[in-house]
Amino acid sequence: RLIYILNGPNLNLLGQREPEIYGHTTLADVEGACAALAKDLGLDLRFLQSNHEGQIVDWVQEARGTAAGIIINPAALTHTSIAILDALNAFDGPVIELHISQVHKREAFRQHSYVSQRADAVMAGFGTHGYNLALRQMAHLLG
Ligand code: DQA
Repeated sequence: RLIYILNGPNLNLLGQREPEIYGHTTLADVEGACAALAKDLGLDLRFLQSNHEGQIVDWVQEARGTAAGIIINPAALTHTSIAILDALNAFDGPVIELHISQVHKREAFRQHSYVSQRADAVMAGFGTHGYNLALRQMAHLLG
């Protein structure tokens, strides 16, 4: 089964960007760890990042009919994007929303997530290790 892991704006700078909040691990490191774990779990993986809202909408649409589940860190688009929520609402499988930082103890504008209206599970504050945990949970949800 195929899992999409989608990453939103500025996550290409992971490891360099505000390391006191997001840590020193790069997105390439995260992708490598997820690829290894997916193999162990018997899952196929598409690991993607874009700074563009429309590209993420396109990938969610592409996942319809091809992917069993989606793990998404929409980054700042979490707090703004009805378009990503609508795209996820057209997807049938499990959706896990992931944030590296603990968004609920940060600024007020990070407290609301459009994507949470659709997500079956939400994780925040597990650092980049959260990606591995989310992938394990996805395998569990898919049975
Ligand atoms: C984030 C939290 C968002 O509020 C922020 O805009 C990000 C990353 C996280 O992974 O902690 O870019 O989604």
